[in-house]
Amino acid sequence: MNTATIILAAGQGSRMKSDLPKVLHKIGSAPMLWHTMQCAAQIEADQTIVVVGHGGAETSDAAHEYNEDAKIVWQKEQNGTGHAVLQAQDELKDFDGDVIVLYGDTPFVKPETLQKMLAARAQNSVVVLGFEAANPGGYGRLQMNGDSLEAIIEAKDCTPDQREITFCNSGVICAPAPLLFSLLADVGNDNANGEVYLTDIIAIARARDLPCTAIMCSEAETMGINSRQDLANGEAVFQQSARAAAMENGVTLSAPDTVHFAFDTHIGRDTIIEPNVVFGLAVTIESGATIRAFSHLEGCHVARECIVGPYARLRPGAELDLGAKVGNFVEIKAAQIEAGAKVNHLTYVGDARIGAGSNIGAGTIFCNYDGVNKHHTDIGERVFIGSNSALVAPVSIADDGFVATGSVVTADVPEGALAIARARMVIKPSLGKRMMDRLRAAKAAKK
Ligand code: UD1
Ligand code: MG
Repeated sequence: MNTATIILAAGQGSRMKSDLPKVLHKIGSAPMLWHTMQCAAQIEADQTIVVVGHGGAETSDAAHEYNEDAKIVWQKEQNGTGHAVLQAQDELKDFDGDVIVLYGDTPFVKPETLQKMLAARAQNSVVVLGFEAANPGGYGRLQMNGDSLEAIIEAKDCTPDQREITFCNSGVICAPAPLLFSLLADVGNDNANGEVYLTDIIAIARARDLPCTAIMCSEAETMGINSRQDLANGEAVFQQSARAAAMENGVTLSAPDTVHFAFDTHIGRDTIIEPNVVFGLAVTIESGATIRAFSHLEGCHVARECIVGPYARLRPGAELDLGAKVGNFVEIKAAQIEAGAKVNHLTYVGDARIGAGSNIGAGTIFCNYDGVNKHHTDIGERVFIGSNSALVAPVSIADDGFVATGSVVTADVPEGALAIARARMVIKPSLGKRMMDRLRAAKAAKK
């Protein structure tokens, strides 16, 4: 059966007090919208339509960054959730599968839950996702008659009795596309907000004798993000579940509460993550690696048996091959560190290859930037770079090359060669002591 998703993301989110559209605020380093889009991708939706309005251009760019096939439709004025869904009607005019309406600010709905809704659709025309609200407040109330959903009544339009209902509308709704738009065609805006409510389709469907039902999920799953406080709570929920999932998959976290994951962090089993490690987007770590304390990784790939940190920074394009080591106060950007190579202390590596088995001494700087352009440094296999050297790119050091400590390397070093690029040391017998004596005498004379 074909499925399409419509993701509503047009609202302003005024309670965020932000210039950024609400759905672009980040959870796990990724726009909230991506979490909803990921859920749509996990049920293999054939089409994803994102309804944008406030900050629509930025929202549309972010949607395409996640899925270039996502369709964008505009809702110029926010006249309600039903009106928002109607904006997708043209896109879906030839589509006769099920549509699921999702929300860009409700990032934690699980694909399994949507699968349950799709299954319930077999016996029902419209399926709504509900939850038992601890505090029903402003949520729409689900009016049930046994398993039959009779109506959704918005909080503002509830009678005192209806207000007592605690089974609430998450907003997520599933119906076949032709029916959804046919029901919406009958929805007016005669309500407390003067809006076109998506929720009104239930009473209209029941009046047409069509079966409707609600399935239940936990309140946590339908948590909506409306304020900075919600954003922080959402982040905590996300981190909690990412940590649990990592441990479930065989990753050791010695202090889970201090490790921060991103939306798409992939870590193989038997990897050990020490305390206070932060993962940004696009990190893949293979099995059996160790990420030591206080390291920060983003956009990088770490192969099996690598050791990273403590206090290492892997930036986008860092590629560590089998058993490579990156130690304390080392920053790596856009560089491949081949198998068994070591960069252990106080070093910057940018735009480079370091060949297998090479050793980069403490305090080496890859000078990749001339103030205008970035240049590449190529280091062959089994190369030794002495401490406190500067490698001025573009430059290459061929296999088995050796760079003496403190060198400023500005020319290519041939295979097996020794390069020394520093002033020769001179010894002046007894001059050290004579200089000190002179300085002390001068200071005493001043007093
Ligand atoms: C809606 C539901 C309510 C449910 C609640 C769950 C309706 C009428 N009510 O109420 O039953 O309990 O969500 O959180 O559907 N949006 C647009 N365009 C619009 C209006 C809204 O894109 O014109 C988007 C908003 O950005 C938001 C979502 O739809 O992400 C829900 O809209 P909101 O105004 O928050 O609806 P609620 O009043 O919370
Ligand atoms: Mg809301």
